[in-house]
Amino acid sequence: MVRSPLLQEVTSLEGRRFVVVSNRQPFSHVRRDGEVRVEKPPSGLTLALEPIVQATRGTWIAASSGDADREFVDRRGHVLQNPPDVQYKLRRLFLPAKLNEDFYTGFANSALWPLCHIAYHKPRFEEHWWRAYVRANELFAEAVADEIGDRPAIVFIQDFQLALLPRLLRQRCPRALIAQFWHIPWPNPEAFRICPWRKELLEGLLGNHLLGFHLPYHCNNFLYTVDRELQARLDRERNRVVLEERATAVAAFPLSVDFRRIRESVLGAEAQREAARLRELHGRGRKLVLSVERLDYSKGILERIEAIQRLFERYPALRETVSFVQIATPSRTTVRAYRDYAAAVERAVARVNANLAGNGWTPIKPMHTYLEPEKVWIWYNAADALIVSSLHDGMNLVSKEYVAAAPDDGVLLLSEFTGAARDLDEAVSINPYATDGFADAIAMSLSMPESERRERMRRLRWRVSNYDVGAWARDILRVIRQHDFDAHRPAPVGGLAEGQFPSRGLAAEAGWRPARARRH
Ligand code: F6P
Repeated sequence: MVRSPLLQEVTSLEGRRFVVVSNRQPFSHVRRDGEVRVEKPPSGLTLALEPIVQATRGTWIAASSGDADREFVDRRGHVLQNPPDVQYKLRRLFLPAKLNEDFYTGFANSALWPLCHIAYHKPRFEEHWWRAYVRANELFAEAVADEIGDRPAIVFIQDFQLALLPRLLRQRCPRALIAQFWHIPWPNPEAFRICPWRKELLEGLLGNHLLGFHLPYHCNNFLYTVDRELQARLDRERNRVVLEERATAVAAFPLSVDFRRIRESVLGAEAQREAARLRELHGRGRKLVLSVERLDYSKGILERIEAIQRLFERYPALRETVSFVQIATPSRTTVRAYRDYAAAVERAVARVNANLAGNGWTPIKPMHTYLEPEKVWIWYNAADALIVSSLHDGMNLVSKEYVAAAPDDGVLLLSEFTGAARDLDEAVSINPYATDGFADAIAMSLSMPESERRERMRRLRWRVSNYDVGAWARDILRVIRQHDFDAHRPAPVGGLAEGQFPSRGLAAEAGWRPARARRH
């Protein structure tokens, strides 16, 4: 695996163990046609985190997800033999099937996911799902405690499946610095208050020493929610919350991708040959417009298909000149809403193709399958444009991966409802709900002069390469270490109780941004 020099900086942890905890594991052992294969999941989170755990030679604790996973672990769940490119330790947690169903399919993906994404999909709150969520978080806490005991460590928790874990760890691992990154949006307090267990979720998250979001907007929403729901002390100036004498810093760190690794991978001779073959095969002199996502209703796939239909109605001359390749990986298929959505997408694609295809031309080419990251990067490199049509997205790493892998004149069309839209100013902005405007934006992108395409891409590349995933990790780790330093220094007279956090200068350097009311 190629390592970005930035990532090498994160290896200095001053003797502490580095433990990442996520529900999704970075690789699984699966049985296919009688053989066991190692597979990586379609998860922006694991793809982004892997180079960091790799660089720190850390430990990753995650739930098992492959049907052959058990055959490759020891008694405590540690993977016995790593795949050749893996230099960290993976510890698998085997959640009982029914517990996993209620925790993952139920509370995480049928309650919390729709609660946090404004995609007009109603969350459901079942009590037995909540109990399973509590239990699953306890089991993760036991695994982390067993792994680190009372040794000094940095525990870096990922995402919404593990909101209760930080508080549980504060009690069990007194010498651990605990940070969490929330990869999805945090909604406004009005939206969040429909959750019957909102107080427990907030108290769980306030077990963290540091809680990170992609955007200052999400930080502010979180702080407003805490203000509304808990008797906690809010230090708005320093973006921190003090609950029961414990301080939690809340800060924005926009997640990014391993720019250099992706770029070097697509510029290799073999990757270039393959990209040329894909262009020839799927483009045949036509423009190739790509989309890449999990088959998830928050990704606005149906809205995009409608916009494509509208594009050819409004601009009939464009027929046969462009093909839309749709790589959509089946996801969370145990959740009914996802199965229904996948079926609706299949029907919508078939309808558009039946209306318009002809003369050897198919407007939308669906590839509803899993592709390894390196193969997806080659697709990016082959594509004239990429459309990200999310209805709501914490960041959207696909857009940044495209910038890293795209041809020099590639065009990025990016939903204004993604976190990435705040960073990537040179993308063509779209509102996936406004079908006519969406169709017009596609038409405009297809006819954009080459010089403008190149200039936009040059600037986008500068942005993504300047703040890659290594910079993100380095900033978070610096802020966590600063917390440790401040916590062990005598409190100034009249100062705050526990956890002085963090010094202004360092915080600013680390991407800390003051709370500012922003419109979404
Ligand atoms: O980033 C959001 C997220 O839910 C991650 O937690 C997860 O790894 C990814 O999307 C894919 O989802 P899942 O793990 O449910 O397949």
